[in-house]
Amino acid sequence: MTYDIATIPGDGIGRTVVDATLPVLRAAGDAYGFEIDVTEHDWGTERYRERGAMMPDDALEQLAPRDAILLGAVGHPDVPDHVTLHGLLLPIRKSFNQYVCKRPTVLYEGVESPLRGYEGGDIDFVVYRENTEGEYADVGGREHEGFDNDVAIQSALFTREGVERIVRQAFQAASERRGHLTNVTKSNAQAYGMVLWDDVVEEVATEFPDVTVERLLVDAASMDLVRRPEAFDVIVASNLFGDILTDIGAVVSGSMGLAPSANINPEGEYPSLFEPVHGSAPDIVGREIANPLATVLSGAMLLEDLGETAAAAGVRDAVRSQLADPDAPRTPDLGGEASTFAVARDVERRL
Ligand code: NAI
Ligand code: MG
Repeated sequence: MTYDIATIPGDGIGRTVVDATLPVLRAAGDAYGFEIDVTEHDWGTERYRERGAMMPDDALEQLAPRDAILLGAVGHPDVPDHVTLHGLLLPIRKSFNQYVCKRPTVLYEGVESPLRGYEGGDIDFVVYRENTEGEYADVGGREHEGFDNDVAIQSALFTREGVERIVRQAFQAASERRGHLTNVTKSNAQAYGMVLWDDVVEEVATEFPDVTVERLLVDAASMDLVRRPEAFDVIVASNLFGDILTDIGAVVSGSMGLAPSANINPEGEYPSLFEPVHGSAPDIVGREIANPLATVLSGAMLLEDLGETAAAAGVRDAVRSQLADPDAPRTPDLGGEASTFAVARDVERRL
């Protein structure tokens, strides 16, 4: 079996972490009996500066036939972030109907949480983030830009269909995990979209009597992710809230450099996209000290999506064993001095 994978290394540390991850996926293929054929797409801010667009006009046509996409990160200090995000990542998520953004948070053994008293295994939850509409809908406008009467309107878009499909996926996940779902909204202040969201959660809940549902406002949820992260199993949230909560999740589980993410089109009509939660990290770029494990773990989610469940588990176990080994190489975010590539090679060796 050969899988056809598109990569978009993108900007900053994106290239380094993708370059470090591909050999791990190839090694997983050797160990579990498949091959991966990689087509690299040199899209991102450099292209934008040279040619005025982050990706070519036919980018989506080029990606559509692939089995999956692995992305590093996009974003550069010299170009406004809304340009890079709206020029590459958001169009892919929306056009390919990748409505599930799945982001697991695990505190691994051997990793120190900034939270006192937490040890490996204590934190293990997954966020299901709506990924195609909500607060990231491209709805709004700007008038009189640069003048004193400058005005902007930014609307959030919530559709019953859009909410229902992510909520159902989250319930399904909860019923296969520990049976607990936390619904995060802000329906006290945002009385239209978020109330529709809550209504849909209540309706879908009747299909999953085995799942207990907890409701939290996003401010309380942010607090509780720090105060009692062990209590979460599955969290379902809108595009913006899911984005924010998963950075909290990443840091309470030890590092931004450990948090993976999958943008999934569950129907498989389009390829899904896998990427670390983190961005292009301009503060550490060019030093080869970025932690590759967030991307390696995203690669494991990619293998899972391809149906290579054993290989995915193999990669995760290799990461787990590395993190638990006090003598293993670690990047500086985890208190070590090793390079990106030394860490990735060590994972490969453990496969
Ligand atoms: P960031 O995630 O790039 O960095 C936040 C902090 O975490 C920095 O101190 C960074 O050094 C550290 N960090 C991130 N990844 C790391 C890794 N693998 N190993 C070790 N440390 C790591 O977020 P920031 O600084 O807000 O954004 C930087 C750029 O990335 C911006 O242009 C932003 O728009 C873009 N961005 C892109 C995303 C994407 O492509 N999906 C997601 C988030 C931000
Ligand atoms: Mg984010």
